[in-house]
Amino acid sequence: MRIAVIGTGRVGLVSCVAFATLGQEVVGLDVDGEKITLLRRGAPPFFEPGLEDALVREMAEGRLSFTVDPAEALREAEVVFICVGTPARADGEANLVAVELAVGDIARHAMDGAVVVEKSTVPAGTADKVRQTLLREGDGRQVHVASNPEFLREGLALHDALEPDRIVIGVESEQGLEVLERLYEPLLRDGVRLIVTDIPTAELAKHASNAFLALKISYANALARLCERTGADVTAVADVMGADPRIGRSFLNAGLGYGGYCLPKDVAALERLAARHGYAFNLLSEIQRVNAEAVDAVASRIEEALWNLEGKRIALLGLAFKPDTDDVRASPPLALARRLLEAGGEVVGYDPQAADEARDEVPGLRIADSVDAAVTGAHCMVLATEWDEFRHLDLAAVKRVMAHPVVVDGRNLFDPAEMAAAGFWYYPIGRPSLVGSPHLLELSEVSRPPAPSLMPGPDPGDRRA
Ligand code: UGA
Repeated sequence: MRIAVIGTGRVGLVSCVAFATLGQEVVGLDVDGEKITLLRRGAPPFFEPGLEDALVREMAEGRLSFTVDPAEALREAEVVFICVGTPARADGEANLVAVELAVGDIARHAMDGAVVVEKSTVPAGTADKVRQTLLREGDGRQVHVASNPEFLREGLALHDALEPDRIVIGVESEQGLEVLERLYEPLLRDGVRLIVTDIPTAELAKHASNAFLALKISYANALARLCERTGADVTAVADVMGADPRIGRSFLNAGLGYGGYCLPKDVAALERLAARHGYAFNLLSEIQRVNAEAVDAVASRIEEALWNLEGKRIALLGLAFKPDTDDVRASPPLALARRLLEAGGEVVGYDPQAADEARDEVPGLRIADSVDAAVTGAHCMVLATEWDEFRHLDLAAVKRVMAHPVVVDGRNLFDPAEMAAAGFWYYPIGRPSLVGSPHLLELSEVSRPPAPSLMPGPDPGDRRA
């Protein structure tokens, strides 16, 4: 099968590599000539585990190529995937200008009978516009429109593309269904659900899924605010809730809240879509309000720990919006850095991948090239992104070089007992703080009731679970 993928961003490029891995002949098309030059050299323009090796391999096998020329990419493609960005406008509405441009190219260059698939996240109803544009700008060739939303997580994108838990196909014609079923057939191992729907359902299901993930996170963060006021432990509350299979433990981790390119824009876009159709989906505004409050709550913890921020040095561990990516779009750690800088603190950030991206985004943020360099002389260490590197810190060594032994855990990554044993003043989110001399810390740890014991399940600390 010959496939064209329009847009070689995080979704488009991963899709190119995944389809090529399945043995298809793939051409990636992008308007950005510099990006195409990089890709032809086998260099992805962003960090995604495993992507570079797979890209180089598929290009060497001759299954994957890149171009800026729409005619070259589209004229023989049986299937065309639209993977361009759909960023948020100021009012939250999805900006579909890039989708329209892509559809214009398809109308001019696609072959008769091609299947045009929306993979970009778009509001329900977009396929109608795609169809109208193809009719208006095409020359009478027949193309089939379909929707095939992606469920790729940054950091695990290749894995999710090749080992999905569900494949959603929204179609309106037999041809569209036949081609997409043929493409995805090799991925239908045990337990993978292929769900065939109409097109608006597939479009809406994507927004609904991301907004629901955001809902779970904001629910955990709202509970964290209540836990802080009542002395309860939000991690243990989430463990109890998550032991019910109807609820599930994943995405109930309180902390700095959600960021990245997808969840924030998709919650806002779904709210706008509802408003445009005359429905006030107020639950979605509340999700966003609680998420913004989550950064404030961590900032307050830091102020509680340090009193005045002027003259204080804060080491910020993690700048990417989540681990295993260099993406800092809508990154909660960067929102926190801006808050702390405004309050007069000196902020020294460290991230294994996202340092350059963060430096460009936050004026005044100093960047360290190691954990050690970040924490040396710091009055407080703030854990902001749960990279594996931070799970295994030599706590004694960290404490030795810090000015004050204070840790604010914006992702509840650390074990309170270990922090107490290492002699830190430890401020998690939505859980009791351990404050006092090392001796008192041990006592307060001992006097706390044990956490509820659960049957073994997914590691509650693992956001990928
Ligand atoms: C998200 C969805 O998870 C994917 O299924 C979807 O395909 C993708 O958007 C997309 O639309 O393209 P991603 O943006 O990679 O994937 O990020 P997530 O793994 O969902 O994490 C989002 C944010 O939530 C991160 O900032 C993370 O730190 C935060 N989070 C996650 C929490 O604060 N608590 C949790 O319990 C889980």
